[in-house]
Amino acid sequence: MAARFLFARMHASASPPPLLDQFARAGQGQVFAFWPQLREDERRVLLGQAAEINLAEVERLTHTLLGKGVVRGIDLTDLEPASYVSRPEQGGDAAAWAQARAAGEEALRAGRVAAFTVAGGQGTRLGCDGPKGTFPVTPLKRKPLFQVFAEKILAAGRRHGRPLHWFIMTSHANHARTEAFFAEHRFFGLDRARVHFFRQGRMPAVDFAGRILLEAKGFIALSPDGHGGSLRALRRSGALDLMKGEGIDTISYFQVDNPLVRCVDPQFIGWHLLRGSEMSSKMVSKAYPEEKLGHFCRQRGRLVVIEYSDLPPAMQREVDPATARLRYVAGSIAIHVIDREFVRRMTGGVQDSSADAGPALPFHRADKKIATIDAAGHPVRPDRPNGAKFEQFVFDALPFARNALVIETQRADDFSPVKNAEGVDSPRTAREDQLRQYARWLKHVGAPLATDASGLPEITLEVSPLFGCDAESFAESWSGRSPRPAVKEGLYLE
Ligand code: UD1
Repeated sequence: MAARFLFARMHASASPPPLLDQFARAGQGQVFAFWPQLREDERRVLLGQAAEINLAEVERLTHTLLGKGVVRGIDLTDLEPASYVSRPEQGGDAAAWAQARAAGEEALRAGRVAAFTVAGGQGTRLGCDGPKGTFPVTPLKRKPLFQVFAEKILAAGRRHGRPLHWFIMTSHANHARTEAFFAEHRFFGLDRARVHFFRQGRMPAVDFAGRILLEAKGFIALSPDGHGGSLRALRRSGALDLMKGEGIDTISYFQVDNPLVRCVDPQFIGWHLLRGSEMSSKMVSKAYPEEKLGHFCRQRGRLVVIEYSDLPPAMQREVDPATARLRYVAGSIAIHVIDREFVRRMTGGVQDSSADAGPALPFHRADKKIATIDAAGHPVRPDRPNGAKFEQFVFDALPFARNALVIETQRADDFSPVKNAEGVDSPRTAREDQLRQYARWLKHVGAPLATDASGLPEITLEVSPLFGCDAESFAESWSGRSPRPAVKEGLYLE
């Protein structure tokens, strides 16, 4: 909008738009180096992109992340494993878990909770040409990830007598296709007025001197600002205000890649609320030292997540002699509950770029091979990193959160992501984990079902989230179902 206005004004006065001058004064004049050669529509696109860029922020990042003498790497001093609330089966306080559950259910009944999915990713690595949420993932019906979440959210709304709002963060690359996918599938039965899409922000790629790179003569090399950008996007899009208007104060955050996730988990939400936490996270015990999970740690009294790529292998392998388990055992599965006003506090600097505008997520630098053009406008396809991209990670908000809390969950009921085409965290492992979950629910109600030693059933089956989302809701539906279906061949329960 702003860009269109500027463009119109430029034509009226025939003088270059002020953005050109602002970029030149910031030492980023190269962004408009080909301006005289651009057509009107190209100029409009370039101005629109330029208007997205916070020049003061780019300058700050150039100093703090790219500047000479900048120490690369993560501060690992004073690091200790984080403590967490254990599940009752692991020695946790069963009465406290029951209390948490009651508090979470009450919040859901009161309409205080919204679901929130970060879905900026593409399914490219999985061979899926489109938004990752469109990837088919269930064993029998091949439901896409988005449908799995939609039905879980629908089921939770029915269960608690209060339909939920669902916020979905897309990227520029997949926004239109995500919206179209939902429309095409009639929002999977959800009330479309309660499903809200918004785009995440973008950051410019820069060379190692901090100069913004062009991808083409009239096109800046922009890339998504990371899932941490979701906090700014929640604010910028008006989602926080919408939540406030609807009486929603608690955001249940999860990634688009995990079909097992409990989109809104009353126990988890209840712990978060009862402890007065501003941001809570679920953890599972790492399955093996090299597992690619972030580690929950404590550092000088604050909760932090240290990424798998940042914790030295020797530390990842350390064993706690008291328990004979990994010392840094608490793995992050990227499921959080976040207080709405905490998001507002964390994004106070959105409009005001001054450094002291309040707490803000840091940016991480990733050196990349960035397709760009040279001074003559010819394409450059580098064979080694020629610049950096900047990303924010949502878990970097934890150190700023009051009473940040880590809650244990059962991996088998919450986490089996689809990240790689093959091997670990692939469609095959997610399919098998879903099958094992259905088999556990069936066995729990006494249904005859043959499984192998790992709990994998011999037949292919699928349970719709509308039939059951967990052992308990499954048992309720099963006991009300008459006659009960034979568990012999391909079985679908809805
Ligand atoms: C992530 C976490 C890791 C955690 C693991 C659990 C990071 C850096 N690490 O690893 O700590 O243990 O998940 O599965 O996040 N996304 C966006 N916009 C972006 C970038 C990502 O929406 O700009 C979304 C993706 O759609 C995806 C999720 O964030 O749903 C995860 O991003 P990804 O880069 O795949 O993280 P991982 O390396 O798998």
